[in-house]
Amino acid sequence: MAHHHHIMPTSDGMILTNFVCLLALCIILHSRGEAFVPSTFTSARQYCSSSICILPSPAAAKPTSSTLHTTPSTTYDMIVIGGGSAGLTAAKFASTFGKSVCLIESSRVGGDCTWTGCIPSKTMLAAAKRVHTWRRMNERYGNGKDDNNNSYDASLHEMLRDIKRDIDENRQRIYDEDDSPEVLASLGIQVVHGRAFFHDAKTVNVTKNEWNDEDSDGSTHQLHAKYGIVIASGATPSTTLLENIAGLDTIPYWTYENVWDEFFLAVEKRNRKRDTEKLMKVIVVGGGPIGCELSQAMSRLGCSVVLVSKSPRLLPDADVEASMELQRVLENEGIDVMCNQAVVSVTTESSSKESGDGSTIKVSLSSQESILGDHILVSTGRVPNINNMGLENIGLQINDDTNGGGICVDSKLQTTVKGIFSAGDCTGDRQFTHYAGFQGAIAARNILLPLKDVGVLSDVPSTTFTDPEVSSVGLTEPAAIDQYGESDVSISFRKLSKIDRAICEGVDSNGFIKIVYNRRTKQILGASIVSPSAGELISEIAVARDAHLPFDQLATVMHSYPSYSIALQQMAAEVYYDKLKKNRVYYDVLKKLGL
Ligand SMILES: *[C@@H]1O[C@H](CO)[C@@H](O)[C@H](O)[C@H]1NC(C)=O
Ligand SMILES: *[C@@H]1O[C@H](CO)[C@@H](O)[C@H](O)[C@H]1NC(C)=O
Repeated sequence: MAHHHHIMPTSDGMILTNFVCLLALCIILHSRGEAFVPSTFTSARQYCSSSICILPSPAAAKPTSSTLHTTPSTTYDMIVIGGGSAGLTAAKFASTFGKSVCLIESSRVGGDCTWTGCIPSKTMLAAAKRVHTWRRMNERYGNGKDDNNNSYDASLHEMLRDIKRDIDENRQRIYDEDDSPEVLASLGIQVVHGRAFFHDAKTVNVTKNEWNDEDSDGSTHQLHAKYGIVIASGATPSTTLLENIAGLDTIPYWTYENVWDEFFLAVEKRNRKRDTEKLMKVIVVGGGPIGCELSQAMSRLGCSVVLVSKSPRLLPDADVEASMELQRVLENEGIDVMCNQAVVSVTTESSSKESGDGSTIKVSLSSQESILGDHILVSTGRVPNINNMGLENIGLQINDDTNGGGICVDSKLQTTVKGIFSAGDCTGDRQFTHYAGFQGAIAARNILLPLKDVGVLSDVPSTTFTDPEVSSVGLTEPAAIDQYGESDVSISFRKLSKIDRAICEGVDSNGFIKIVYNRRTKQILGASIVSPSAGELISEIAVARDAHLPFDQLATVMHSYPSYSIALQQMAAEVYYDKLKKNRVYYDVLKKLGL
């Protein structure tokens, strides 16, 4: 989703609000007689803002009622609709403050991140990277065969079973440790499995899911919220394509939701038929983060991949050079990247004589070209989940499609209905787990605590976890020039071939670090990084930028050699020395005076 809000808080206002909130927090916590212990959320997928990181150690809050099935109507301090990153953080925030909270989830608690997003994809990418390394080593030092004299790809197919197992285990582990009803219950969060429907602005009807073993009666319960409701219903793969691509609705296609099963099932099927000679060909439609990550993973795991993108370049929101670098990397690995190409129609052709049975997918492009493949993965964006919740009953306003098509919120995440807040992907804003988690905490905070914090940020760091990773924060070069004028924008640029660590690891042929800063004040305006660990490097820049540290000041902070991050110190040092050189005359005078 390329939609950006432009509600930029003035930094002074932000600091003031945060300060007042902290003060209020101190008073609240003090009066509750709790230890004022700084602590952060423990889950890797939950985040918090500067003002709300200071929390008492989580004490289990007692819900006002935990026996939902005996009481048809229950009142909670706060109700959360949706158990993904935003909803979980909101609920945990409430329970940490001793408030009773009910979390309504119609599917699996954990949301897209745990089940179909970050966790499975990063597990698969890590495995694909190991396979890639092994293959490179084999090409370089081996004979293309493994110890059992099997050809490389035959043993690869064995390995895929382990990768699928790792994916399932990692999802389950994170669910069990952070998101399961037992864990949430221990925090004082009541979880209800069912569909939420607004009765009025403070009341939600919940139809319990049939499959929920405890209360499988499909009955409706009414829940009241004393202080407010957080809508965190997430997003799903965009289906507008079904209308735009003729024939897509007639074939089984993959999305990030089902690829974690379907990909491995497809591989298994080929294995059983001993059909492993010819590579499995996957057509990926969409060149955003999901499309790029999965293209590289599947390619490295032995597929032939064609990546089709409607945009002129991959990762259209990224720095242009970063897009080009990534495209070159993917092409070097054998992925066929086709930009500026719309998919017009999809048909299936029976290919009985070639691969036994099964059918071939034929994708026709706007350029009149067509491509054949065994499977198609559609990753062309996500749409907010806003339907079947009765939002129209309570007069809640929805943005139009050009603004993301999500729930309309102000900068404090307040919807157009008083007392109802919204957080995460369902607002149609940028779709990141960390941003959703941050917003969930802010929404809960704004409902339960005095005053209100800003929950819509003008920029959010993000990383596409290809290899190398592509990370960014703040403004790109053109955006900075737009805002500050060409004469006020400077660039510090370093290729990976000038970073010792990258040379040692043999990964210096692709990638760069690019820092955009203000020529006069040296304030960091933004950064784009294509590198191993770019997702870690970008955090240093995000911290420096947030703290308004001038870029050259990083030169005075010791970094350990030979890390990747020491490149940031070296780049800052160049700016620092430039500044020194400008004062040369002045220094010479002082020196002559014997100082
Ligand atoms: C490995 O396979 C090749 C033919 O593919 C054969 O010539 C060779 O003898 C085999 N080596 C072993 C150790 O089995
Ligand atoms: C919510 O449930 C109550 C009680 O079951 C029912 O009377 C009411 O009509 C429902 N509201 C909506 C909007 O469906």
